[in-house]
Amino acid sequence: MIDKIKEHIEEVKAFHADNKEKIEEFRIKYLGSKGLLRELFADFKTVPNEMKKDFGQVINQLKTIAEEKVATLQEQIESKEVAKGIYGDLTRPGEPVTLGSRHPISIVKNQIIDIFSSVGFNVSEGPEIEDDWHNFTALNLPEYHPARDMQDTFFIQTNPDVLLRTHTSSVQVRYMENNQPPIRTISPGRVFRNEDISARSHCIFHQVEGLYIDKDVSFADLKQTLLYFTKEMFGKSKIRLRPSYFPFTEPSAEIDIYWGLKTETDYRITKGTGWLEIGGCGMVDPNVLKNCGIDADEYTGFAFGMGVERIAMLLYQIGDIRMFYENDVRFLEQFKSSL
Ligand code: PHE
Repeated sequence: MIDKIKEHIEEVKAFHADNKEKIEEFRIKYLGSKGLLRELFADFKTVPNEMKKDFGQVINQLKTIAEEKVATLQEQIESKEVAKGIYGDLTRPGEPVTLGSRHPISIVKNQIIDIFSSVGFNVSEGPEIEDDWHNFTALNLPEYHPARDMQDTFFIQTNPDVLLRTHTSSVQVRYMENNQPPIRTISPGRVFRNEDISARSHCIFHQVEGLYIDKDVSFADLKQTLLYFTKEMFGKSKIRLRPSYFPFTEPSAEIDIYWGLKTETDYRITKGTGWLEIGGCGMVDPNVLKNCGIDADEYTGFAFGMGVERIAMLLYQIGDIRMFYENDVRFLEQFKSSL
């Protein structure tokens, strides 16, 4: 008899149910008015006196365990129902959340900033709507200077003193006006030129320009800085500086990197030469330093500038510059992994 009750105890312990009906069935089976425990208590009277103590103990044990079981199972079900009421079914898999992605221009711009930051350049910014002084005159491009034509400027309304900056060299002017050397700064930003829109050029694009001014800064420092950059950015370790002309630097050069001629694309983008132009550079013209309040007898410096779209097109093999401004999610989504 006692063994039988012990079996019931094990049965109760092992019992599990996840709906109200099953728990109720279980409760009635053990604790109901015609349930097992009632029967056992009734049998108790017939048990010989010397066994009453042990028998009583196991019955009571069975009763407590069964009661506890019913209570905990009911509680579990109720708490699930409450949660369901507030949040719906908490065990359902979550809804997929579509994550945004960074724009390829921002990815490349941030990479450029990271590389120059690692060698001590800070980041400076300035307004996109500029005046003549900061965009032209201070940069050795006085009124009627022929090189102004190179810049295809958007002027605002009829006032020629209000324009959209054509390069972020204007930020460098502002930086020099407000800071004395040593200066090491890069100026990333959006620039505007009145050019026909095609697969290769746009009237809006981005530049990162750099400026380094200190005592005894030489052309060799410029070349070494650019070499460091191309190694970090492209993994290429051969560059070439071709003589060029900018009004604000003297001497001036175009920066070419040796891209190589391994694939068909390499042939196409380098026009079969293996070399690729990524920007301009030079030693800051002493006139520019003077215009910005820096002693040109004491200090020298170098500057460089490059187009961000150009670099992004190279790195991601994008054939059309207009893709950057169309905001087509099918294009933008492809940069998801490059957070
Ligand atoms: N400002 C030049 C441009 O927009 C680039 C440049 C910057 C060249 C600094 C030389 C030095 O084309």
